[in-house]
Amino acid sequence: MKNIIKCNCIALALSLLMLMPIFANNNKAVHPGSVYLFAYTPENLSGRTGLQFAWSVDKENWHSVGQNHNFLLSDYGRWGSQKKMKSPYLFQDAGGVYHCVWSLNDKDGSFAHAASKDLITWGRQSYQEVMQDKNCLKPIVSQNNGIFTISWKSSANGTNGLFAVTTSNFINYSETKTIQDSKRSDLRESITISGILQNGTVHKVSWDLVNNLIKNEQLTTYNNQLKEESSKTDAIRFASLKPLNATMTVEATRSKKISNMLTGVFFEDINYAADGGLYAELIQNRDFEYASSDKEGRDKTWNSSKSWTIEGNQNAFTIDSLAPIHENNKHYAVLKTTEVGKGLSNEGFDGIALKAGDKYDFSLFCRNLAAAKTKIIVRLTGKNGEKYAETSINSNSVNWKKYNAVLVSNKTATDAKLEILPQNQGSIALDMISLFPQKTFKGRKNGLRADLAQTIADIQPKFMRFPGGCVAHGDGIDNIYHWKNTIGPLESRKGQRNLWGYHQSMGLGYFEYFQFCEDMGAAPLPVVAAGVPCQNSGTGGAGQQGGIPMDEMDEYVQDVLDLIEYANGDVNTKWGRKRAEAGHPKPFNLKYVGIGNEDLITDIFEERFTMIFNAVKAKHPEITVIGTVGPFYEGTDYNEGWALADKLNISMVDEHYYESVGWFINNQDFYDKYDRSKAKVYLGEYAAFLPGRPNNIETALAEALYLTSIERNGDVVSMASIAPMLAKEGHTQWNPDIIYFNNSEVKPTVGYQVQKMYGNNAGDVYLPNSITLSDGNEAVQKRIGVSVVRDSKSNDLILKLVNMLPVAVNTQLDLKNLGIAASQATRILLTGTPDSKAALPKTDAIAIDENFSTEMPAYSFTLIRIKTK
Ligand code: AHR
Repeated sequence: MKNIIKCNCIALALSLLMLMPIFANNNKAVHPGSVYLFAYTPENLSGRTGLQFAWSVDKENWHSVGQNHNFLLSDYGRWGSQKKMKSPYLFQDAGGVYHCVWSLNDKDGSFAHAASKDLITWGRQSYQEVMQDKNCLKPIVSQNNGIFTISWKSSANGTNGLFAVTTSNFINYSETKTIQDSKRSDLRESITISGILQNGTVHKVSWDLVNNLIKNEQLTTYNNQLKEESSKTDAIRFASLKPLNATMTVEATRSKKISNMLTGVFFEDINYAADGGLYAELIQNRDFEYASSDKEGRDKTWNSSKSWTIEGNQNAFTIDSLAPIHENNKHYAVLKTTEVGKGLSNEGFDGIALKAGDKYDFSLFCRNLAAAKTKIIVRLTGKNGEKYAETSINSNSVNWKKYNAVLVSNKTATDAKLEILPQNQGSIALDMISLFPQKTFKGRKNGLRADLAQTIADIQPKFMRFPGGCVAHGDGIDNIYHWKNTIGPLESRKGQRNLWGYHQSMGLGYFEYFQFCEDMGAAPLPVVAAGVPCQNSGTGGAGQQGGIPMDEMDEYVQDVLDLIEYANGDVNTKWGRKRAEAGHPKPFNLKYVGIGNEDLITDIFEERFTMIFNAVKAKHPEITVIGTVGPFYEGTDYNEGWALADKLNISMVDEHYYESVGWFINNQDFYDKYDRSKAKVYLGEYAAFLPGRPNNIETALAEALYLTSIERNGDVVSMASIAPMLAKEGHTQWNPDIIYFNNSEVKPTVGYQVQKMYGNNAGDVYLPNSITLSDGNEAVQKRIGVSVVRDSKSNDLILKLVNMLPVAVNTQLDLKNLGIAASQATRILLTGTPDSKAALPKTDAIAIDENFSTEMPAYSFTLIRIKTK
């Protein structure tokens, strides 16, 4: 133990030393006026490290601007292998703006371009397709009177050639032409950096420019160190810290209105959140539409018969697609029975969970292929053949016909399977074989798992965002989520590959989402793709931003307008009628539509987003359209997204950031710095993480701490939803999540408890407050967060006190002039060791007055709800 502490002390001392350069003296008198800057991307690292710089006074001795730095990373293509940057060519235009063009890889006929004024902040990237069936290597640029000529080598298909295009703006390009070698002068040089020969461009630049690069790198290093702060080093950081005293006052006279919708939820079909999760269907692959493409051919067992097993050696089960029930539901099963008494079984999603005495609605579509009549026994059985429930149907049609039955389980079990047992020899066609518990959330047909849905509803979310996330914009344009595919009779819905590596049946579709929102009292917040797929798409289009072709965009825009009509339109409208036919004549009162999901803000994006945005604003000015500003709290997409919001006068934008606990501790002033005259913020995805990605007291408290600052900024942040929400054990692609589950249990995390505490205790008025701690150390101060809100409906005052310190803080509260109306208040306390995953909030009553003291235990979140006059 001693040794570990010693090592940590050394690490801490070292990291402090590393901060020193930030304050390094920039003595103009001794620094050169100009130096050489070498721009390259290390070829030996296969181009995945982005653009790097080295600088030199004499072109002999080269220095790094920072360890492991990069100044420009490629955004092209799928995560992992595709985001490469080869042969960068940096140059400055006549106006002094730096441009960089580079090759993406050895096969695509596109080069990339980005520009920057200071080599630190880069604008959008574009990927111009200039060759078809040929690659685009070693691009170089020459310029003449504002016209840039980009030339490159192409070596594909046995041809070696030189080609060029011209442009004045890097948006519109001339036709590709063949050129002669003499027209090309490649100014790249070979320089040895750290013993390795690298190829790139050398530029004579001012020392100030390089000095800014170095300082920026030092700032990044410093910020990264703050990000790494966690409770692991608290024993050192707070070695001499004793329990603290604090005084807190709340101002009665000054207050501001804040959003009353701050806490909501984000539902995405990730981690088996929908099929096999919230959607109560118990049969996996009920429509035989699973396809090997769902898993891009990587899983040999994943196909139309996934989850189905034929029993009886002489029986046969095949998949057919001739005359299906519906063109959107092409595949069905053909069951040929020779051995009567044995048949087809389905294992559900890791087994079917049943409750003794509960009723289950069974249905299937059947078409007799031989006999005129077939009796089919439907049975739920256990691993060892135990019979849990049985019923039968009589199939009597040579056309597709739906049959229904009810099964009552005689046992509570988690291992059941469903058996379909024809009682005659012969062949039948089967499809849409379905089993639902009757006890769904609010008893809805085609409903939701009651326990999971109730756990979500218990947060009292003010809104629900759906259906994604990446699922909304999809992996390539063919995978974009189209809401129209998800409504209407189940047999007509069009399932598709889920980009998280499985299949989405669309049984949980837009009607069900709207219905769930209404059942929870949450505002629906659908997100549609902005006409472009996910920025990390690996399929379709010209790289990640292959948008919907412009000649198909009108139709796509109309789909978005139709969605609003589906939600809100009169029953006499085309889409309002469809909602009524589904059982909901009243409108769903849709007020928000998100366009785009943390997309790259490129020209292709902007063109399509603007079309959709303008059309919705023109036809439905009552709808708040939510724009998108990229996947991070900073960077090109964040800057460009906000610039676009300003340009189009978008009233709300969706920000996303998954960051470390240290980031959340050190960035509580993030929104304090926001311009109140600009768009409002919807923090659509956020979560605090630690190495190993647990959801524990430490991550939960980091979120609770940050949320005190969100409440303080509730005049600029309108809504916030942590992400992701649901995760099925054994099928989790992303951690941490806030609710884990299996087929029979729901396991809310400590992070969930924080959301619930905030959701159940929202206010609409913020009361300025101040807290003075007996220790003025910044690291101590940053770990205490307080927020005071009033709920105008109940007139309750709600205090939220977060302590991320390893010691208790005895707090003296001054609540005078706030109209305290009772001598008791309700306290909810969530506390535990930082690594605790099992802590539960405890509620009690505490005595209060205008002045009273309360203890914030070490690592705790205390919520006090006080009645006022
Ligand atoms: O929440 C998981 C994923 O994180 C979402 O799909 C995406 O929007 C983000 O990158």
